[in-house]
Amino acid sequence: MLFIANWKMNPTSLKQAQKLNKNIKDKLKKINKEKKAKVIICPPTIFLSKLFQKNKLIQYGVQNICFEERGAYTGEISVLMAKDQGANYSIIGHSERKQIAGEDNYTISQKVNLCLANNIKPILCVGENLQEKNHAKTGLVIREQLQIALKNVKINDIEKIIIAYEPVWAISSQDNARPGTPDSILGASIIIRKELLNLYNHDVATNIPVIYGGSVSKDNVLDYSGNSNLNGFLIGSASLNAFDFSQIIEKYIQSAQKQT
Ligand code: PGA
Repeated sequence: MLFIANWKMNPTSLKQAQKLNKNIKDKLKKINKEKKAKVIICPPTIFLSKLFQKNKLIQYGVQNICFEERGAYTGEISVLMAKDQGANYSIIGHSERKQIAGEDNYTISQKVNLCLANNIKPILCVGENLQEKNHAKTGLVIREQLQIALKNVKINDIEKIIIAYEPVWAISSQDNARPGTPDSILGASIIIRKELLNLYNHDVATNIPVIYGGSVSKDNVLDYSGNSNLNGFLIGSASLNAFDFSQIIEKYIQSAQKQT
């Protein structure tokens, strides 16, 4: 199971980031002895090299990369730099990037390909906004996002991708955010796997990790435990608290063990 922390633009000092990283690591030593959970932290890129240590407990990623590998792009971070500083993953196409930086599906496709070309695993975010949901366009939106983002991804590379279903209305930073219901997440995970079947084949549709993100907390994580289509979670605000984040992991692992 994947537990990916998206720290967004938090915390605001290296000292706090190091403390949070250490606290999470200490908790994982206790709760993840059997390595059932694969934990990936995506801190602000500026802290990455100071947090990165090769270890078995945590891997690291970035929250975004530039759509070009190199060049005059003031303020941007190249995939090469992310790789050089210890990232093995990059979140791509997060809805906050779409809202703040106007990223569209085509830019997202470019970034996915840049990641793959540089041995960084993309965590590709898809999901509808509230208006689209209210107009029953969830399936349409997800399919279009996948079709464009994966357009140039060959079958040999697709297995390196993680797909995160992140309905915009469920992300805790949104007004009136509420976590997706288990049924809506199940529905979306089926839509994603069906589209992967359409674009690739049965193995791809079955094997690609599909995770859910949007107000996941220690109090609701078990609501999703019956969904065998899900392979983990992308966790924002709850990942800023080592206790909450580790509780999410611990509860989920324990419940998965009971089910087997
Ligand atoms: P949240 O964020 O868990 O705070 O809702 C998830 C995300 O935006 O990736």
